[in-house]
Amino acid sequence: MIKVSNLTIRYPEVVAVDNVSIQLKEGIIYGLVGPNGAGKSSFIKALVGLIAEYDGDIYFDEFSRSKDRHIIKSLFGYAPEDPDLYPYLTGKEYLHMIADIRQVDANSQIKALQSDFGLDNVFDDLINRYSHGMRQKISFAAALIGEPKNLILDEALNGFDPISQYNSKNILLTLARNGHTILLSSHVLELVENWCQEIIILNEGKLLAEYTLEQIEDIKARTGKDFSEHFVSLVQRPSEGL
Ligand SMILES: Nc1ncnc2c1ncn2[C@@H]1O[C@H](COP(=O)(O)OP(=O)(O)OP(=O)(O)O)[C@@H](O)[C@H]1O
Ligand SMILES: [Mg+2]
Repeated sequence: MIKVSNLTIRYPEVVAVDNVSIQLKEGIIYGLVGPNGAGKSSFIKALVGLIAEYDGDIYFDEFSRSKDRHIIKSLFGYAPEDPDLYPYLTGKEYLHMIADIRQVDANSQIKALQSDFGLDNVFDDLINRYSHGMRQKISFAAALIGEPKNLILDEALNGFDPISQYNSKNILLTLARNGHTILLSSHVLELVENWCQEIIILNEGKLLAEYTLEQIEDIKARTGKDFSEHFVSLVQRPSEGL
């Protein structure tokens, strides 16, 4: 479980995350949505320890983000918005390096990911030669190595081909069924509706709404609006929330 209390992140020009409190429970895939600049990546960067200057508290189970950062490192996998991979390693070498760092035996997992993501033909090529989508896949695969308890994905599934999307969804659903906590940000609302059990909407740094799928169905029944229509009106007129 990840518990965030009164999280505020300030940059010199802007309050990127404004007093957000939320609990991410085990066994749930959470979708994090919001317009460009809403604060999604800043929120995620604070969770994974890339932003250390913030007000509020972040806990992974009983471990405090600020006090137990070394323990927390073993509790999550993270795929960033713009993956920064070593260009002089092959995809296979990169994933084995991550397995070594995490001190897990991931040989069979790496083989499965290679096949799930259609990387057979490029696995022994240098990452330098990879397309954007292939880099995204390696970054996502790296986050999955050792099946960490929490998975934090910042627009990490953009650019996946349909087979890789299908396989990724199954991997995430299986992890969730096994009690892992998953947070994925995306601008693709259909994907979020399709993959996630709960949807968190951020706007201008504020937590605008948190919906279960049942609540989204209920909104559809009451207003006749599908989720993307509701999202647009909510972001434009925040008082229309639940
Ligand atoms: N390193 C930084 N320094 C200063 N301001 C920043 C920095 N990173 C983000 N911001 C600002 O913080 C706000 C939130 O940005 P953030 O990247 O968290 O949004 P986002 O929801 O992830 O957007 P997107 O959907 O475009 O990825 C924006 O106003 C952005 O300009
Ligand atoms: Mg972002």
